[in-house]
Amino acid sequence: MTSAVAAFNPLDLSHTDDPYPRLAALRRERPVSMPLPGWHVVVRDADVRAVLAAPEVWSSRRNNTSVPETAEADRGLALSQLDPPAHTRLRRLLSPAFARSIVAGLEPVVRERAETLADQLKGGADLVPAFAAPLPRAVLAAFCGVGEGDAAEYDRWAAGFTDLLGHRARPEWPAFERWALRAAEGPALGGVLGRLDRTEAVTFLHFLIVAGVPNLRHALGNLVLRLLREEHWRTDGLAEAIEESLRLDPPALWQMRTATRDAVLADTPVRAGERVIAVVASANRDPARWGEDADAFRPGRAGLRAHLAFGKGPHACLGASLTRLQLRVAAEVLIERYPGLRLAPDFRFRRAGDFMSRGPAALPVLLE
Ligand code: HEM
Repeated sequence: MTSAVAAFNPLDLSHTDDPYPRLAALRRERPVSMPLPGWHVVVRDADVRAVLAAPEVWSSRRNNTSVPETAEADRGLALSQLDPPAHTRLRRLLSPAFARSIVAGLEPVVRERAETLADQLKGGADLVPAFAAPLPRAVLAAFCGVGEGDAAEYDRWAAGFTDLLGHRARPEWPAFERWALRAAEGPALGGVLGRLDRTEAVTFLHFLIVAGVPNLRHALGNLVLRLLREEHWRTDGLAEAIEESLRLDPPALWQMRTATRDAVLADTPVRAGERVIAVVASANRDPARWGEDADAFRPGRAGLRAHLAFGKGPHACLGASLTRLQLRVAAEVLIERYPGLRLAPDFRFRRAGDFMSRGPAALPVLLE
């Protein structure tokens, strides 16, 4: 197994297709490794938590960007790319939009969208393009208060915007920006955008798409696959099954941080400016936290919601409640509509996602 450990590289898609055997070997033999110069891979639960909890040592500031350190440049950075105090200020302003009561109020909309998509499924359907991909786009549109006149265009933006790099150069950016500026002045997101400056508001509306759409598509695909393979295609115990699916198959495999100063991580020296890859997909299966059956699907396990699929610490996912709501309602609708649904006999897992994320590229099913 040592050779597999030496070869592990989170930027190699072939290594992250099925990362779990390599991650298990790393946890046992090399909890902090350096597959690329200046990049440390951290795989144990306790170490991943320590990294995510300490933004003063492990900065988010340089994630996917190389902008200068000025207040002006900060306004163009996503929430996930900021450190305190800029992050603390913005997160405090935005958090009310994600209040439990607001999210719960969206349930009828989520159900209606899920039922419409489920009713359109035909025998031999591929659930990824027909259900798992469009549902999060439609729900995010409702969450952001997108009006009927903008719905079709917003859906195209939500399908096209997938990362934080180079998005302002895209041909559809000016139209998105015009819509976002209008939305920022209206009641969207409970009016919280009115407390931001214009660049911050546009940046956040864009970031919501990047943060909320692909991850949810992967999570929905992973959940359906898990429920079918574990013969758990039923609505009782669904909330626990969803958590267990998020633990075992987190759509976001790892988070990146940069050392702000020389530090030591699990006895390994890390120099200022070096990157740390905190692999939550590995932490979520660490036997030191989850027991010897950490790889098994066991929805009743104690403390299940403490998994790291939504991150941890000051950057923990603001959309977790909205995600849980969508996963539950989507699964309920599919199970109620198609109690005999099963995977197509020739199904083989093919991975979709960038370096950091993972879900099925296709999910051909038979509806019964
Ligand atoms: C299965 C679906 C999702 C997963 C797995 C997920 C995962 C994550 C993770 C791991 C982080 C932390 C990133 C870091 O520490 O650097 C995060 C942050 C965030 N997520 Fe999610 N997310 C999901 C869905 C959503 C949705 C639906 C929304 C909003 C509609 C959302 C909004 C956010 C925001 C705003 C942040 C930034 C928080 C901050 O930096 O303070 N996410 N998400």
